[in-house]
Amino acid sequence: MRIDKFLSGAAVASRKEAARAAKKGAVLVNGKVVKDLSVHIDPENDRVIYDGRAVEYRKYIYVMLNKPAGYVSSTDDPGAPVVTELLPENLQKAQLFPCGRLDKYTVGLIILTNDGGAAHRMLSPSRHVSKTYYFELSDALSDDDRKRLEAGVDIGGYVTKPCSIELITDRSGNITITEGKYHQIKRMAEKAGNRITFLRRISFAGIELDAGLPEGKWRYLNESELAVISGYLS
Ligand code: URA
Repeated sequence: MRIDKFLSGAAVASRKEAARAAKKGAVLVNGKVVKDLSVHIDPENDRVIYDGRAVEYRKYIYVMLNKPAGYVSSTDDPGAPVVTELLPENLQKAQLFPCGRLDKYTVGLIILTNDGGAAHRMLSPSRHVSKTYYFELSDALSDDDRKRLEAGVDIGGYVTKPCSIELITDRSGNITITEGKYHQIKRMAEKAGNRITFLRRISFAGIELDAGLPEGKWRYLNESELAVISGYLS
């Protein structure tokens, strides 16, 4: 594998940054300075140092994206922009895909990866992975309706699992669900005679949307977030 690919895959540096660092002598392979990053290494056995730090080999890439409204959670759609278009070319080439779906007009946290196994496990209903959304409603939610939604409601042939709702005002708050049925939160709100006017996912499987990440932007998962993902590796 080329060293620059290894470094960008390990979320250490983009290819451009790596090239700049290499010129300055900041990339070492097995103790030797390497200036040409097209050189191939054995990622499992060669020891790579970048800017004084040993780089751990990662087979797969994991990023978080703050999805803006209007984008489809898919890699390809004939009629609308897709979330993967928001990634740089090197990540598009790495064939990342969204781990789960948000509706076109829902914003917020999406994890993208090329690790099909981990994605499959995180999305498996048997794992009960929790997802938290900030919501705004058209009308005030009464305490009775909040309790009813928390206990589970029939959203058309399916009774939702217990969830938790923390109100911030009488028409906004955070809801945490452990499943992901089609339009689930919108349909739950409708069951209470209400309507979701804004929805943002703020957490997925314990990984929180980075408050410093503007809508439309992405970043690599950091070490503690990768530690969460490693709980879903086989
Ligand atoms: N529930 C919804 O209604 N929409 C989403 O995008 C996610 C959960």
